[in-house]
Amino acid sequence: MPHFGDISSGWIKRIENKGSMLVQLLFFSSVLLSCISNGSAGVTSTFVRNEWPSVDIPLDNEVFAVPKGYNAPQQVHITQGDYDGKAVIISWVTADEEGSNKVRYGLSEGKYEFTAEGTVQNYTFYNYKSGYIHQCLVDGLQYDTKYFYEIGDGDSSRRFWFRTPPPIDPDAPYKFGIIGDLGQTYNSLSTIEHCMQTGAETILFVGDLSYADRYKYHDVGVRWDSWGRFAERSAAYQPWIWSAGNHEIEYFPYMGEVIPFRNYLHRYPTPYLASESSSPLWYAVRRASAHIIVLSSYSPFVKYTPQWKWLEQELKRVDRKKTPWLIVLMHAPMYNSNDAHFMEGESMRAVFESWFCRHKVDVVFAGHVHAYERSYRISNIRYNVSSGASYPVPDKSAPVYITVGDGGNQEGLALR
Ligand SMILES: [Fe+2]
Repeated sequence: MPHFGDISSGWIKRIENKGSMLVQLLFFSSVLLSCISNGSAGVTSTFVRNEWPSVDIPLDNEVFAVPKGYNAPQQVHITQGDYDGKAVIISWVTADEEGSNKVRYGLSEGKYEFTAEGTVQNYTFYNYKSGYIHQCLVDGLQYDTKYFYEIGDGDSSRRFWFRTPPPIDPDAPYKFGIIGDLGQTYNSLSTIEHCMQTGAETILFVGDLSYADRYKYHDVGVRWDSWGRFAERSAAYQPWIWSAGNHEIEYFPYMGEVIPFRNYLHRYPTPYLASESSSPLWYAVRRASAHIIVLSSYSPFVKYTPQWKWLEQELKRVDRKKTPWLIVLMHAPMYNSNDAHFMEGESMRAVFESWFCRHKVDVVFAGHVHAYERSYRISNIRYNVSSGASYPVPDKSAPVYITVGDGGNQEGLALR
């Protein structure tokens, strides 16, 4: 068995010095707490969220409230819009009609001197018809600057803000929050509210957003909408770096929906073209002192597939002099000692682990298993299927693997 670090209870938060650089990684998705790595500093949050009840919040609860006003923008969220952090993609939904596609933005509140124009689309899922989904790239931004933005028309317009990251620099400090397996329960609410209080500047999301796939027929779309309104309290202000989990696949032959990721891909755009990816499901961004690679556990990744070819090239683009932190996000963990989802990440491990070691990935974050766990720096790249030796060994070039724990979804904690 691989060697895993201590698993203790609470929430986890880390500050690690790497050379002169300071990056903070805040873990919000777990009811567990620890401080990883051999870094020089760690801070422990005293916050522990309740384990129960893990039931979805009723649709008429105010956390899902539709904003007032005819056709008011709802489900507002932002993500990085380019490779290096000088752009955002702003997305929102209007329910009654298309409405304006414009984002008005500027450097002071109420003074929106710039305008960007986006696109709008809608789709059906079984007999559910989505609202009008707007996506607008706002680019050419200055680094390290607070922007204010306004969307919607007339009395129904709504105002938000975001802050761009510092320039790409090995010494740029930055604070990431990390969430996975969030859902829309009272525990999910607790997770997201705690995350906002800690001042995380960007959220790294490791998959399984809404758990709407636990509903049927029309209610699948309805629960994607409620989750969008739920996440807005953070995601309209802090960019969320998205990755897809198994709950985003939504392969439902019983209602004629057999194209994977349809709801997710219509609603959560990513800047995949900026990293020369051919799919929104795998891509990379650079932010402050970190190079972040997003992989898709549920898309082809074996040798010669698009994801495999893309990752081979992307790893060559990593410049540790500019971004000393190399972070990989995926949904299914490659190392997992729980019964829950045991060995599900093994196929990706067999394909990518040697690259992670060769390129000295710092940390691989995963979700899926609803329990926190972290590894020592170990690898199993010497494993040879015809001659045994299938045992992970200490490897200084290997990443630390962290399963970030449960964000609060209705499935509850993995107990074994
Ligand atoms: Fe999952």
